[in-house]
Amino acid sequence: MNARVLYCVFVCLLFTRPNDGSRILGVFPLAAPSHYFLGQALLKGLAEAGHDVTMISPFPNKEPPKNGTWRDIVLEDMMKEMQKIFSSERSLFHMMTSVLTTTLFLNKMCNMATEKTLSDPKVQELIKSGETFDVVIVSQFGIEAMKGLANHFNAHQILFSNTAANSWFNHLVGNPSLPSFHPELLLALPRRMNFLQRLENALTKFMTVLNLHLYVYPKQNEMIQKYIPNPVDLNDALYNVSLVLINSHVSIFNPQPSVPCMVDIGGFHISPPKKLPDDLQKYLDNAKEGVIYFSMGSNLKSSQLPEEKREALLKAFGKRKEQVLWKWEEDVLPGKPANVKLGKWLPQQDILAHPNVKVFITHGGLLSTTETVYHGVPVVAIPILGDQKMNAKGAEDNGYGIVLPFDELSEEKLTSFLDEIIENPKYRENVKERSRIMKDRQVSPIQTAVYWVEYVIRHNGAKHLRVAYLDLAWYEYYLLDVFAFIFAVIFGAILVMKKACTFLCRSKINKRKVKTN
Ligand SMILES: *[C@@H]1O[C@H](CO)[C@@H](O)[C@H](O)[C@H]1NC(C)=O
Ligand SMILES: *[C@@H]1O[C@H](CO)[C@@H](O)[C@H](O)[C@H]1NC(C)=O
Repeated sequence: MNARVLYCVFVCLLFTRPNDGSRILGVFPLAAPSHYFLGQALLKGLAEAGHDVTMISPFPNKEPPKNGTWRDIVLEDMMKEMQKIFSSERSLFHMMTSVLTTTLFLNKMCNMATEKTLSDPKVQELIKSGETFDVVIVSQFGIEAMKGLANHFNAHQILFSNTAANSWFNHLVGNPSLPSFHPELLLALPRRMNFLQRLENALTKFMTVLNLHLYVYPKQNEMIQKYIPNPVDLNDALYNVSLVLINSHVSIFNPQPSVPCMVDIGGFHISPPKKLPDDLQKYLDNAKEGVIYFSMGSNLKSSQLPEEKREALLKAFGKRKEQVLWKWEEDVLPGKPANVKLGKWLPQQDILAHPNVKVFITHGGLLSTTETVYHGVPVVAIPILGDQKMNAKGAEDNGYGIVLPFDELSEEKLTSFLDEIIENPKYRENVKERSRIMKDRQVSPIQTAVYWVEYVIRHNGAKHLRVAYLDLAWYEYYLLDVFAFIFAVIFGAILVMKKACTFLCRSKINKRKVKTN
């Protein structure tokens, strides 16, 4: 079958499905934009395809979809509780710098979010309502107890990962991944790792796996037992996954193996360009020397920047011929140069789509990285926490960005990096090529997501996609029993030969002795 026939089959399936609207529950309790925003974009796509969607999240949907039905279950205090955890840490900048401290922080945050969600009165009401769903889509991020919900609601379980395939879920669907070639999420390692890097990667993976099995799973299982009536054991629910939708794409991440139930939908949250507000449109059109767009994302306020770093930024910006558009959350910025324009809220996707934007200074969050690749704007990346270092490293490896580590941020460095990105055409050419790769798809990523969710429903959980890995014990998977057998045979053979040899030699010597006697 060629691609065209496949495409026709696909379109026919889309339109001949008995569209009675399936019942879909989405569980996205974390009050972080990359979780909430992506979850909402995915569920909205499903509602618009005619499904009946319920979303558990910290915020209500301000623009409910036109098609299908939409119900919000809003976790009222989640935002406040998460801010409490964030501000109880002395300095977010320093806390998230090592894998160990990040892991400890995430454990704490995810336990809080799980407990808050499952104990929420509205969630408890839903759990006790006797309602059922066709699928439950759970955000894959340490809130493992939510995986008890699919079983409770008699639904198929789908995971949504807000970043590329990683050690938090590869094993759940039997996806092969070795630390020799697959860099861990929280490390900024290159595609081809040397010995020390592979050692660091392997130890990090080992720590991640131990943390999951010895701490996260037992702790989260307690919460399933506490809040869900007739609960499953987490260990059974964990490996009962029909599909993983992954916010990843080869235009951004190094290609990795992926079992058939893993589907890349990176870029699905990008909406068609909208008209800019008049003042911004005029500003961008009139910027003859181009615009430098600067935003550190939405969960990290630029007003939290230390004094000296802010000074460095202002000095570097003040002497440029380009205009600078800075996402700044306060009314005033002391010492603001004339060529700097501030905005508390800026329509990032539509700004990046404007041809006068020359470079994006970003924290390297995955949403920003995806959007900048989509629109073909090169970056100076100043990664701070989580997976930002990995994304920034990817931008550098793929030739469309330069990494500026936060502690090395100075007027001189920023100036020279901006000069390099703006004057050397290779960065723009590389990012344009990446953009073409991102857009070169058979159907749009949101259509892909809708197709696969409906596929799982049509095929009653799509258990035919499960790989045999999941039926094996870990020592069977690593062939330890086979190696043990082979070693035993070789060892046995050597032993037998040795015995035989000593016996033969002895009898020869004896014969010789007999002769000489
Ligand atoms: C809404 O869904 C129906 C099928 O349920 C479909 O025929 C129609 O095209 C959809 N409308 C939009 C705007 O997507
Ligand atoms: C596994 O998933 C199926 C639906 O795909 C569900 O019927 C079953 O109860 C689940 N089992 C467990 C142990 O979660």
